[in-house]
Amino acid sequence: MKAVRKLMKVFITRRIPPEGMKILAAAEGCEVSQWDSDEPVPRSELLKGVEGAHGLLCLLSDKIDKEVLDAAGPNLKVISTMSVGFDHLVHSEIKKRGIRVGYTPDVLTDATAELTVALLLATSRRLPEGVEEVKSGGWSSWKPLWLCGYGLSGSTVGIVGLGRIGMAIAQRLLPFGVKRLLYSGRTAKTYAAEVNGEFVPLDTLASESDFIVVSCSLTPETQGMCDKAFFRKMKKTSIFINSSRGAVVNQEDLYEALSSGQIAAAGLDVTTPEPLPTNHPLLTLKNCVVLPHIGSATYSTRGIMSALAAQNLLGGLQGSDMPSELSL
Ligand code: NDP
Ligand code: DGY
Repeated sequence: MKAVRKLMKVFITRRIPPEGMKILAAAEGCEVSQWDSDEPVPRSELLKGVEGAHGLLCLLSDKIDKEVLDAAGPNLKVISTMSVGFDHLVHSEIKKRGIRVGYTPDVLTDATAELTVALLLATSRRLPEGVEEVKSGGWSSWKPLWLCGYGLSGSTVGIVGLGRIGMAIAQRLLPFGVKRLLYSGRTAKTYAAEVNGEFVPLDTLASESDFIVVSCSLTPETQGMCDKAFFRKMKKTSIFINSSRGAVVNQEDLYEALSSGQIAAAGLDVTTPEPLPTNHPLLTLKNCVVLPHIGSATYSTRGIMSALAAQNLLGGLQGSDMPSELSL
């Protein structure tokens, strides 16, 4: 990698895997400061840390808005987020200032698809409930009607957002014997033929699917998309899974749908807010499985994400190509 000539200040908003730190440490002319903790940087420290920075390496939990950009000042050339989602970045402000943005697509697709399938199976086959029954002594015998759930074989699966991760989820689910694969989005995809995907309106997807998996990006259009009207269209025996962003779902409406028996169960890897408060109503429901946003959490994936985020940052600082640049 080409050396960075003049001294460039970089602020990293969290402790990140060593793969990324090594790349930045080896880059000439980079003065790195970091919020060296596993917990999020307090807003006041973020505002202090970015002052005069040329580069910012951030995470999905850092809201990068006008206030942060103003605090950084005119030096800031590049924002590199260690995530594929970029809904935490205020695009209009970043674009206005001509700041380049790097993100981490593809490298986390497999891990996230794998976790989503695990969540779907855990939810539909009631694994957390089963584990709890074993521990609490609720397991009295093999019982014909106990802890029954829903299987994928012969089912219809609906994917909301057949992008990189949606497609990888579809590819992993098909071998379970899925009969029909529906998907919705803004446009039909030619690559959907690989999974025999049928492009359908969201309403059709909601009413015909036995399993619904949300894997779209969070945009003004998708915010709150899974609401009362959506859940009312679902079958009473259907399972709802979300591994995209919490805000795609209206959680009050989801609670109502789950507690009234409008839908069978839900599995969420993402919520609003994160963390979900431990007294949140959704956590009182047996038919709701909530995970702490661990879609991409394998050691190797997180290492690769941090390396890619570091390379994107250096590309932006040098004014050269970034391996994964987001066009705003
Ligand atoms: P992609 O950009 O490849 O896919 C996003 C998909 O969202 C596109 O297919 C797009 O479809 C779809 N979409 C956009 N608008 C709508 C809409 N109105 N209705 C339905 N679909 C829509 O991104 P990835 O697959 O790589 O990632 C998707 C998201 O997953 C990320 O943005 C992130 O939020 C989340 N994620 C969560 C993780 C976790 O840990 N749980 C890990 C990684 C990602 P179209 O092209 O038709 O617009
Ligand atoms: C992302 O990258 O957007 C995920 O939510 C975390 O890996």
